[in-house]
Amino acid sequence: MSVAAPEQNMFWGNAPTSRAPGRIYTDKELYQRELDALFYKGHWCYVGLECEIPKMGDFKRSKIGERSVVMVRERGRPGQPDCIHVLENRCAHRGVQFVRERSGNARSFVCPYHQWTYKLNGDLVGLTFRQGVDAVDACGEKIKQGGMPEDFQLCDHGLTKLKVARRGGVVFASFDQDIVPFEDYLGADVLAYFDRIFHKPLKLLGINRQRIPANWKLMQENIKDPYHPGLLHTWFVTFGLWRADQKSQMIMDAHHRHAVMVSRRNDAVTANIAANVTSFRENMKLHDDRVLDVVPESWWKLDCPVQKAEITPTVTMMTLFPSLIIQQQVNSLSTRHIQPVSEGVFDFVWTHFGFEDDTEEMTRRRLRQSNLFGPAGFVSADDGEVIEFVQQAYKANGAARTVSEMDGTAVKNTDHNVTETLIRGMYEYWRKTLSL
Ligand code: FES
Ligand SMILES: [Fe+2]
Repeated sequence: MSVAAPEQNMFWGNAPTSRAPGRIYTDKELYQRELDALFYKGHWCYVGLECEIPKMGDFKRSKIGERSVVMVRERGRPGQPDCIHVLENRCAHRGVQFVRERSGNARSFVCPYHQWTYKLNGDLVGLTFRQGVDAVDACGEKIKQGGMPEDFQLCDHGLTKLKVARRGGVVFASFDQDIVPFEDYLGADVLAYFDRIFHKPLKLLGINRQRIPANWKLMQENIKDPYHPGLLHTWFVTFGLWRADQKSQMIMDAHHRHAVMVSRRNDAVTANIAANVTSFRENMKLHDDRVLDVVPESWWKLDCPVQKAEITPTVTMMTLFPSLIIQQQVNSLSTRHIQPVSEGVFDFVWTHFGFEDDTEEMTRRRLRQSNLFGPAGFVSADDGEVIEFVQQAYKANGAARTVSEMDGTAVKNTDHNVTETLIRGMYEYWRKTLSL
């Protein structure tokens, strides 16, 4: 566990990393530091899926931290694959967000304010009245009025172009041009689970959006918390999608910032669960059991030389720090994008997907199972609600501390799910990065 230098320890105090002060969710100045150090520097952030922009000129508006960005597809050079650019949605003139639609198709981007015009790669191609306006002076001579200075160069005033990483049809970007390659950023163990999901062309199934009145880290914590699903979610525990006694693995990257929660569903309820877990409802039955019409898929078993999978997972919940969650819950797949709005609010965007070669029946199955997730999902609605409760508690009392000590205070991979090791790992990394 990292130990901050004493003079840097004012914020956290001398408590261990497992005891976080509530101010980490409510402090405005700290939140700005997080945006700068975690979202705008040194980290790859999720932007979207390539299948959201299938044709030339297709674009999608997205967010990295609070900054608006646009992902756009442009034809590559002859014989080369298409380019996907990610540009900051901020006009180089005076800052207007020139893309207002969530998605669309364009040949160029024209800012509405003074019509500066940009190519799809972000280069400035022209601006109205660059040479001024023709006029006649008092002596009848032709003159130019206005115009940009003679030394104004279009090439100096393009849009901010982000560094882009594409893997398996997923697009990440960074404002930091010196960032490490995406594969190194994830590390081999987490990358193996990323590739397991994104192993063939994707098909977009739908998008949900919700605004959650809570700090963005609480959603990362929620998906690094295998302790809660078998307790909070009646749905999970009753229908066997996640229980404390299931075979599981908790896996982190070397920095402990990313994680995978891996588990295998079982139908049998042990006496321990039936007796102790109050959210288990033996009598709860589905009126329409097609929502749990689960069909195992060949790719579920991890086939990778780096990661030795001890189980064939039915669930893999990945947290890619700082802004992405990748969900596989049986046949339901989604990315969940964390977009901070302020220290106490974030937008959460769910993109449900399948594979291009899915049968119609499999697409219907994935869509039915995705009723468990999203803002009003049978399972996920619970999470949105509880993290709001956490935020309210620490807003009222920022000096109070969390106790994330299930399974001790160490940070390590585990082969069970009754642990908060992944939360401790994330805060260990967070403290180190922010020097807190
Ligand atoms: S702000 Fe975009 S053209 Fe002026
Ligand atoms: Fe949950």
